[in-house]
Amino acid sequence: DGTPLADLIDLERHEVSLRLLTDPEVFRLELDRLFSRVWTVLAHETEIPNAFDYVARDIGLDPVIVTRSRDGSINVVHNVCSHRGMQVCRAEAGNEKQFKCPYHGWSFNEQGRFMGSPVARENMHGEFRAKEELALKKARVQTYAGFVFATWDQEAPPLEEYLGEIKFYLDLMFDRTESGLEVLGPPQRFVIPANWKCPGEQHAGDGYHAMTLHRSINELGGSESDDSSMYGIDVSANGHGLRLIDRRKGKWKNNREAVLKAQTLPPFEKLRTIMLPPGLTPEMAEELKDKLTEDQIRVLADYPPSVGGLFPNMGTFCFEFPTPMGMAAIISWHSFVPKGPDEFEFVNWFLVEKDAPQEFKDLMRRAATLGLGTTGFVETDDADTWPMMTEASKGFMGRRGTIKYGALTGEDQPLTGYWDKGEFPGGGHLYPGFTKDDSQWNWWLRWRDFMLGEPWGPDAHH
Ligand code: FES
Repeated sequence: DGTPLADLIDLERHEVSLRLLTDPEVFRLELDRLFSRVWTVLAHETEIPNAFDYVARDIGLDPVIVTRSRDGSINVVHNVCSHRGMQVCRAEAGNEKQFKCPYHGWSFNEQGRFMGSPVARENMHGEFRAKEELALKKARVQTYAGFVFATWDQEAPPLEEYLGEIKFYLDLMFDRTESGLEVLGPPQRFVIPANWKCPGEQHAGDGYHAMTLHRSINELGGSESDDSSMYGIDVSANGHGLRLIDRRKGKWKNNREAVLKAQTLPPFEKLRTIMLPPGLTPEMAEELKDKLTEDQIRVLADYPPSVGGLFPNMGTFCFEFPTPMGMAAIISWHSFVPKGPDEFEFVNWFLVEKDAPQEFKDLMRRAATLGLGTTGFVETDDADTWPMMTEASKGFMGRRGTIKYGALTGEDQPLTGYWDKGEFPGGGHLYPGFTKDDSQWNWWLRWRDFMLGEPWGPDAHH
């Protein structure tokens, strides 16, 4: 309606126009200015362990194939035939040396190179372009902890820089042992009739909702919604957000004596005494000492990370969950792939340490399905909420409404009472105390940078 995009986020009042959720024009701009540029996760490399394995995924609305070459390298190629635009790969996953387009039969190798057509090209009047011109487009690919990220943007900074200071904390969940993680089967995928930003901004920092929306989990004895997930330090960097849990509060209060007794121990001994990170046996935990820095272990011992979000459309989980067989760990990574202004696909990877014993893996699979699966306890709560937010943004009044991010701790608060051992070893903006809106507000500021076309500038480090 002519309102400049920049005016739909009120920097003074910390409010965001509800219409940003589903306006079709905004969605079109997101494809062109955001999903064309960000690094986003498409797969975990253990999904395609062998040469010529592949999975079909999407970057924004663009279908892509994630493939592995004979030399082990990973490619992401546009799954759109250079002839007339048919998808050359119609399966979800498999092993192929060549993809043959089902429309007229052109073939492409796993790197997207044009390999031939059913009729000699000389006989195809006019189709004399160089083979290179007929190749499928390739995205830039980099990996972190086995996760395959891709971007179309040649100017995007390297993935490590894109992750920035949040990587220090991600390592504590996803890159903490020599052998690393593997997937517990293919990711669960389901479509939710909601805008992708509902889960996107939520995962950046909304610990607040767990105490109400996920209350049933607490009543079942779970960890997600008791106050252990409410207090700690919210970390925010480059639009990414992560909550560090204060181990002295919440469910650890039942273990108070051990926690207090452990305070004088060296970091790793303290970690081992109080509670190992989810998903590790005592033997595997020894590997932490080789893989993580002393500073990382110090943070892990007192403020383990749990739930977080990577800008713009990824979520991370690492926590214990109650099952009929007892507490079990869930390690999960989500991607919220846009399908339109009011629909996204939830792609949900469950992971486990490669070196874990088989019964440990089986238990984690059960826990993941019970907790975060399509019929589980957690995401099903959210899957009711996000569509209602989305619908609200379409009405006459809804389009004129705003969503509020006024519960801000503010920049660079001292960690008084939360870290009393000199300077906090982790980076990023740190917001101590009860979880608030800072990380989510920073997420919107980062979104704004992309939408105004200035994502890689010097001021883009929220
Ligand atoms: Fe693929 Fe024609 S569209 S061969």
